[in-house]
Amino acid sequence: VPSTIAEPRDLLVTALTEMLYVEQKLADEVLPELRDQIKTPEFKEGVKHHLEETKRHAENLERAFQILGETPKADKSHSLDGLVAQREKVIKRIESDDLRELFNASAAAKTEHLEIAAYESMINTAETLGQSELVDLLEENLADEKDTLKEVEKVAKKLSKEKTTA
Ligand SMILES: [Fe+2]
Ligand SMILES: [Fe+2]
Repeated sequence: VPSTIAEPRDLLVTALTEMLYVEQKLADEVLPELRDQIKTPEFKEGVKHHLEETKRHAENLERAFQILGETPKADKSHSLDGLVAQREKVIKRIESDDLRELFNASAAAKTEHLEIAAYESMINTAETLGQSELVDLLEENLADEKDTLKEVEKVAKKLSKEKTTA
């Protein structure tokens, strides 16, 4: 892992270290906690499914390091930790289960947006470097994040509707 960033490849490796941290923390802590907290069956199933996908995302990233001849390494992401801290700050003040579900759907959407933005720029760099095997791996992750975003947006819409028509 480069200590200084002097070329696009260094940026890509640095982004890989951030995303390995993100995917591992999501798989080990964030998604299991969310799964246990959620009550809406459709939402709960979606999170369970994405938890399994997320474990594969971390494995894909480890392979991506290997393709570049680097040892896989995770390095703290202030972006994800900020999202986690923000969710914790707000969720304590939520007084009803319905609102908590809706809030959790929006927190999940924010995380997917973060991942989508990260993978899109990494793919862009990997393409420039002619690393097509790497691009394929990152595209796999990106496709899952996009599907998941669509799912949580659907859940959020449904929950909002139920809340306002109840
Ligand atoms: Fe992911
Ligand atoms: Fe995700």
